[in-house]
Amino acid sequence: MRGIQKISAATPTMEGAGVHLHRAFGFGDTEPFDPFLLFDDFRNDQPEHYLKGFPWHPHRGIETITYVLAGEVEHQDSLGNSGSLRPGDVQWMTAGSGILHQEMPRGDEQGRMHGFQLWANLPASLKMTDPRYQDIPSAQIPVVTEDDGTSVRVVCGEFAGQRGPVDGVAAQPRYLDVSIPSGVSRELPVETSRHAFAYVFEGDANFRDASAPGEFAGNRSLVLFDQGDSIRVQAGDDGARFLLVSGEPLREPVAWRGPIVMNTRDELVQAWQELQDGTV
Ligand code: CO
Repeated sequence: MRGIQKISAATPTMEGAGVHLHRAFGFGDTEPFDPFLLFDDFRNDQPEHYLKGFPWHPHRGIETITYVLAGEVEHQDSLGNSGSLRPGDVQWMTAGSGILHQEMPRGDEQGRMHGFQLWANLPASLKMTDPRYQDIPSAQIPVVTEDDGTSVRVVCGEFAGQRGPVDGVAAQPRYLDVSIPSGVSRELPVETSRHAFAYVFEGDANFRDASAPGEFAGNRSLVLFDQGDSIRVQAGDDGARFLLVSGEPLREPVAWRGPIVMNTRDELVQAWQELQDGTV
């Protein structure tokens, strides 16, 4: 069973053209989360705090995974793609050798714009791969419902024999949206070789061993797990909903500046030079 390395609260920050969001991790020590680099929670109920969005900006060397819960994100890119992500939809963008895009949030009737963005690193061998998008409508995401009332949306990877629709992703991540009813306690398998974290976004849950009365991690809590082959979770009185994300660590050097993540400083300098020259 995996113990807990750390529980922390996502911290308020500003990104894009002035979007207020909460960052669970990113731009710090990358090792504990490898192959993941950053996780942003952009749930927001005040349109003036998100409508300026994320105008044109580049990415290279990473993948970004956007999961929308409420509102819409309109996107456009330098390859001529455009579209809109709606509640329950996922977009998996492999930036690879380079892409310019913009992501513009639009609230729903209640003014809500809710969702998450995760960055996954690409291994050295794929940093310069061709850019690619996978836009997955909500209806294509399998939902596993279990006898204890637990329900799991399988965005990527496998759970209980169901496979998520996102494929061909380097880090072979598993990205699950897990809902557990009030008071239910259960185990969820996570392969031993992976780094794993949970991010709570509704209710609260105790991720420590049930025999030790641990604290309950509430909304916007990030739980980083130790090694092991499963996690234990007990939902609080109002149930719990959280993302459970895991991936195989790449164990490569990370050279990171803004939206570009390479292996060496030279590659970073080159990437920014090519951007300036317009040769991406
Ligand atoms: Co972006």
